[in-house]
Amino acid sequence: MLLQKSLVYSLRKMAQSELVCVADFELYLKQGLSVVDYGYYTDGADGEQTLRDNVKAFLRYRLRPRCLRDVSHRVTRTSILGHNIEFPVGVSPTASHGVIHKDGEKATARAAASTGTVMILSMFANTSIEDVAASVPQETLLFMQLNILVDRKMTENIIKRVIASGRYKALVVTVDQPCSGKIQSRKKSTLPARLSLPQLVSPGESSLSAWINGNIFDPAFTWADIKWLHGLTSLPIILKGILTAECAKMAASLGVAGILVSNHGGRQLDGVAATIDSLSEVVEAVKGSNVEVYLDGGVRKGTDVLKALAMGARAVFIGRPALWGLAYNGEAGVKNVLDILKDEFSLAMALTGCSSVAEITPDLVKASPLSNL
Ligand SMILES: Cc1cc2nc3c(=O)[nH]c(=O)nc-3n(C[C@H](O)[C@H](O)[C@H](O)COP(=O)(O)O)c2cc1C
Repeated sequence: MLLQKSLVYSLRKMAQSELVCVADFELYLKQGLSVVDYGYYTDGADGEQTLRDNVKAFLRYRLRPRCLRDVSHRVTRTSILGHNIEFPVGVSPTASHGVIHKDGEKATARAAASTGTVMILSMFANTSIEDVAASVPQETLLFMQLNILVDRKMTENIIKRVIASGRYKALVVTVDQPCSGKIQSRKKSTLPARLSLPQLVSPGESSLSAWINGNIFDPAFTWADIKWLHGLTSLPIILKGILTAECAKMAASLGVAGILVSNHGGRQLDGVAATIDSLSEVVEAVKGSNVEVYLDGGVRKGTDVLKALAMGARAVFIGRPALWGLAYNGEAGVKNVLDILKDEFSLAMALTGCSSVAEITPDLVKASPLSNL
């Protein structure tokens, strides 16, 4: 049963000062996880074309810096849906942080809180909606991610809990997952007995295996149901997983507050475009509306953040890099990752001649056909 064992993978725990970029944290995810679990957190769907392209596509865009501007004082602060964040990078929803670190989602939320940014809690978190909210200061910006389940009552109950907590400022509804994509890892990851999915089931309940087998999502969830969602809550709704102008226009016409351009980190439909390549058509499609556009997928550097903002994103989100930080050192590790991105973003602003987020304009980026760098 070699596959079930932890990897014999010994990695010297480098001091935080030795880790200089986000990619430096990736190796730590390998340590302590079984091959199967490592695959769950790392893999993409099918041939992983989209997984690879999400990162590489940023190289197809080049920066056009402006010189001789006063950048001695730079402000990375911005806002999303009217809430201030210290810099335009938030944490995307990812399942089961408890497998990676004993403090699970509380650690991630506290790191987002102390860096002054937003965390989207996954519906498949190992920590409850209420416990995550209670673990961070009142002013922390939290959003809640939701899949629409076959069991609509269960979906409604989760929304009721989100509303009752009073702490989540938006619902992020995942729309690119009518059913689970084909993830490469050869065996399905299963939760250790100490963990549960408190938004969905108690430990040992049979629906847990239904989730693991990926058949609890409602494949009949359609645009018509957005109205149903609006009827359940006055919270702003962000649709996560839109990649086309057609869907973006539909979303805008149905009164959503935001669109998160995402391909689920390459875990759903392999072969779709990288998110940075999809961003412009979505931004264009909702121009003139109040819909905010965000992006996740492949963001690893401050210059990636700047490129996405120049191309019209209001903010970007990170999925895997937060997990790498969590694996490195829990809350402090996630904070390290976010701090590096913040510093790199501030540096990218300086080197392109921007002293505020508002000065990051489309002319700072040009598409380049050369991608193999
Ligand atoms: C291990 C893992 C679990 C994820 N779980 C969820 C989830 O529960 N809900 C969701 O909407 N997206 C989920 N995602 C997708 C992320 O929210 C995000 O779209 C993606 O990770 C961004 O790409 P990046 O990892 O390159 O930053 C998950 C991604 C990973 C890697």
